[in-house]
Amino acid sequence: MKATLLVRNIGELATPIGRAARRGADMSAIRVVADAAVAVDVETVVWAGPASELPRLEGPAPEVVDAGGRSVVPGFVDSHTHFVFGGYRDEEFYWRASGLPYMEIHARGGGIASTVAATRGATEDELVASGAPRLERMLELGVTTVEGKSGYGLDLETELRQLGAMRTLDARQPVDIVQTFMGPHSIPREFSGSPSAYVDFVAREVLPAVKERGLARFCDVFCERGVFELDDSRRFLEAARRLGFGLKLHADEIVRIGGAGLAAELGATSADHLLKASPDDLAAMAAAGVVATCLPITAFSLREPYADARSMIDLGLAVALASDLNPGSCYSQSIPLAAALAVLYMRMSVEETLTALTLNGAAAVGLAEDRGSIEPGKLADMLILDAPSYRHLAYNVGMNVVGTVIKRGKVVSVRT
Ligand code: NIG
Ligand code: FE
Repeated sequence: MKATLLVRNIGELATPIGRAARRGADMSAIRVVADAAVAVDVETVVWAGPASELPRLEGPAPEVVDAGGRSVVPGFVDSHTHFVFGGYRDEEFYWRASGLPYMEIHARGGGIASTVAATRGATEDELVASGAPRLERMLELGVTTVEGKSGYGLDLETELRQLGAMRTLDARQPVDIVQTFMGPHSIPREFSGSPSAYVDFVAREVLPAVKERGLARFCDVFCERGVFELDDSRRFLEAARRLGFGLKLHADEIVRIGGAGLAAELGATSADHLLKASPDDLAAMAAAGVVATCLPITAFSLREPYADARSMIDLGLAVALASDLNPGSCYSQSIPLAAALAVLYMRMSVEETLTALTLNGAAAVGLAEDRGSIEPGKLADMLILDAPSYRHLAYNVGMNVVGTVIKRGKVVSVRT
């Protein structure tokens, strides 16, 4: 066996196993190996297991990273963010803090619309410059793959610019970026009161341009009462599917309108938020193999009840956890906070939480084949924790326990 990197002296290796989302009870069946080692060839894991069983390495000596008896877990896949945007909405945060509901601000022309104005006014270079430090922060927190959505342009030019900024950022730094086109994120003022006309415009003018330039792998829609109702959402997603995009939905976040059921009907890759999803629709998602992505920091920030992740897992769903980083409903990329909320308030076990942040996150962006776990054949995206056990991921409430980040077989971040 040949290796370019050997991670040794791992006190506890903890990882889900598999090349697809883990569902239901399988979410807690992680592999835990004491006194472990991991061998990597270039960017791929070639061996992982008890150090005493490590095969002899041939060829030039590998670079050795000593984990110092600490725990190693897979890199996190943050499968739902809106990290490229112009401006901030701190004023709105304080309105919400004093009781004004998120959707009321939205209806009054604030909310997403104010970020749209700021993003339309930003150059691609400015979007790159403001996005870069957010990615740096994610990497320190252990995120090795992130999904990023457009949806703060709501016109052809700005949507392409937002996606272009993500493409530039993808090439410039270690975190892999999976791009999602979210034209139907809100109804722009040019189409005020006419969501259907806006969806027609997006499907006719913007979707094909995104496709032609290869700027997105997924399409997403804010399927919500008063924004894009079921029919408009379905029409957009069907158009996206015809062009070969994978599908995602912001579903049943504020009002139960059946977005989760639509995700099941269309065979979406994931349906996200799901705070108000009906048990029948969740069961339909489980049957259709749609990943349920929970975004606890958004519920926390909006003072909404958390998604019922416990029932979802008990129903046999694959649950993923993501940050939802965005300038409005959730200005945070804190994976540590998401993990703590999942364990303390959503009644997920820490093993389920680990699976939700890694392999199931990868499945939510269609990449479970090549990442999300530490096993032969997978990308060597790994975290050495500043802790002896993966259990510290939630136990050390809200704190970053990630010490060293290895991305594609290279040490890319070391916390000193
Ligand atoms: O996932 N709900 C819609 N979209 C985002 C919020 C975007 C914003 O407030 O800017 C979300 O919460
Ligand atoms: Fe979102």
